[in-house]
Amino acid sequence: MPLLIQNGEIITADKRYKADIYIEDETITEIGENLNAPEGTEVIDASGRYVFPGFIDPHVHIYLPFMGTYAKDTHETGSQAALVGGTTTFIEMCCPAAHEDALEGYRLWKQKAEGNAACDYAFHMGVTRFDERTEAQLREIVADGTGSFKVFLAYKGAFGIGDEALYKTLTLARELGVITTAHTENAELVAQMQAKLLSEGKTGPEWHEPSRPEFVEADGVHHFATFLEATGAKGYVVHLSCKPALEAALAAKKRGVDLSIESVIPHLMLDKSYAERPDSEGAKYVMSPPLRDKRNQAALWEALARGDISTIGTDHAPFDTGQKAMGLTDFTRIPNGIPAIEDRVNLLYTYGVSRGNLDLHRFVDAASTQAAKMFGLYPGKGTVEVGSDADLVVYDPEYQGTLSAKTQRMNVDYNGFEGVDIDGKPEVVTLRGVVQVRDGQFVGDRARGRFLRREMSG
Ligand code: URP
Ligand code: ZN
Ligand code: ZN
Repeated sequence: MPLLIQNGEIITADKRYKADIYIEDETITEIGENLNAPEGTEVIDASGRYVFPGFIDPHVHIYLPFMGTYAKDTHETGSQAALVGGTTTFIEMCCPAAHEDALEGYRLWKQKAEGNAACDYAFHMGVTRFDERTEAQLREIVADGTGSFKVFLAYKGAFGIGDEALYKTLTLARELGVITTAHTENAELVAQMQAKLLSEGKTGPEWHEPSRPEFVEADGVHHFATFLEATGAKGYVVHLSCKPALEAALAAKKRGVDLSIESVIPHLMLDKSYAERPDSEGAKYVMSPPLRDKRNQAALWEALARGDISTIGTDHAPFDTGQKAMGLTDFTRIPNGIPAIEDRVNLLYTYGVSRGNLDLHRFVDAASTQAAKMFGLYPGKGTVEVGSDADLVVYDPEYQGTLSAKTQRMNVDYNGFEGVDIDGKPEVVTLRGVVQVRDGQFVGDRARGRFLRREMSG
């Protein structure tokens, strides 16, 4: 059924104007004033609302076997939570274990998502080893439309890769014109510092941050950038958390390294004191890189406002309190991650735009447009133009509410932002022209989500 969104204020990364949007067959076919609605058209009144392009989360984990357990969301629950929060596309980290075959892992991740996602999705292909078969397999995966890699410099003995594999991955990425995303912490230093702290009886979640301090992340960024420089590949640092790491990334950019920066909403909003909370509370806030000293947040917000930080993702990795308790007597066994897929857009809008830290256009750019451009989805996604996919968020900037596990759709028994106020909320969310969220509630097609084939060039 055709759809007409009337009287809204369209906001993109560079435009702001009032107009109607007419949608037919999944795409925006007309934008203009006082558009007619042919018979049979569904009409949505967006008076007093912003109309944003569907938001894109460039960094989520849905199917995630990790640290002896599995993240809690399925593609069904995670995608519905995403939509309710205004995210119409996510890019999931496909993370086979080092002993697993890359192609088999890729097929498994795709199979998990297919027919189960309510929003659109793509993958970053995790390269967790590089042997004689890997190169041909990665070529096949890129040819299938998964045009970005993910490497972990952290997690020694698990996802982490060494320098030889890093060099080979980046050399191939350069040849194929794909971008490589990277978790940048020095794995050996983390392993040594963890062992030292545990040997001193420092076992609680409050020791997670000291086991991987800011300089360890800065070293990881510098190391990744050096390999990008050597190979000429294009890189993207995920979940950058602190000022020293930011400085290392900016220094690399300044000397010509093709490097982009992502931060994630937990690092903008939360600090290390959360992981220092007593009893089992602190474990909920263990993620890597860790939540940092609060002084880092201003540096991240400022870099985001300037555009030095290109994108804001979530690193959604939901483990419930029972799973977190696996590490109560040994912080190195706490499954890493903080759920946020449902709350990213509202938190970024509230503590960015509404509270005066972020321009409205930069908000759209960081939460949607930049990811679309960087990962081969633009202009189908990431903007509101004739010909773009009709992924739209009718956003109520007057809404006042509070985040809580009691009202969330994410399949996890806590919310890391419990009690935090929000100043806006998606009212209607469409995915390729179909209303998936109405009055803030998921009402749509549970299987509408589609795998997005991406073309990357140079
Ligand atoms: O703590 C985190 N970030 N968990 C998910 C895995 C990763 O490092 O992205
Ligand atoms: Zn990571
Ligand atoms: Zn991650």
